[in-house]
Amino acid sequence: MKYVDIHTHILYNSDDGSESIEQSLEILTIAKKHHVNSICFTPHCFINNPPDMQEVIAKTNILKEKINNNINSNINNNINLFYGCEIMIEDTLPSFIKKNEEMCLGEGNYVLIELPMFNYPIYIKEVLYQTRLKGFIPIIAHPERNSHIQLETTKHIKDIIVNGYIQINAGSLTGRHGELAKKTALKLVKRNLVSFVASDSHNDKGYSHMDEAYNIYRELKGKEKTDQVFFYNPYKALKGEYIEQVEINYIKKKQKA
Ligand SMILES: [Fe+2]
Repeated sequence: MKYVDIHTHILYNSDDGSESIEQSLEILTIAKKHHVNSICFTPHCFINNPPDMQEVIAKTNILKEKINNNINSNINNNINLFYGCEIMIEDTLPSFIKKNEEMCLGEGNYVLIELPMFNYPIYIKEVLYQTRLKGFIPIIAHPERNSHIQLETTKHIKDIIVNGYIQINAGSLTGRHGELAKKTALKLVKRNLVSFVASDSHNDKGYSHMDEAYNIYRELKGKEKTDQVFFYNPYKALKGEYIEQVEINYIKKKQKA
């Protein structure tokens, strides 16, 4: 078992990802073949138009039953399925998540937050702080894809790591999201600022990048650190367990240097 994936859009008919139950089952079968241990479905959530979580839970349960009880499957490893949401940042996010705790990832209190691609809202730092104050732990989804962070990585990333964790996409490491995203992702990896790598899968191509991304990461940081961001940290997040904050080490190392 190699991967625990906390960011996907493969729950059928929930957002711009999987379009049918058959497609979801096909993607899950591919995930099994790639040794994915656990997957969290994270449909897009816009605060003014949130997904129906009862529907998300019901669909997750249907897939759980089908994928793990499939008597035709010749793969004997089961896959653990969880649900949550990827919530687009708004200044009202802290009070919104307090009223919608079921949108946290899996069984814990980590919340996956998306930034706009071409905009850097001034309230990001305050929203993460307030989210934390309310008892939730922010994870910023693929900051390497934000155009402002690509241009001024150090300046903006400080706003995030004070109160949140960073999740980068496997596809960013392999260049699928373009040169700037790749360069920024590598910069974050080299500085030890990454806590999670996830697939952000929308379709059956989503897991084709995982092995390549894993190897790129291992080449840079070694097996132990790589397993931490591809497996152990994501698993802990889904279970609501403590994860060491990266910036503490980063600052300590800077002071020593
Ligand atoms: Fe996503």
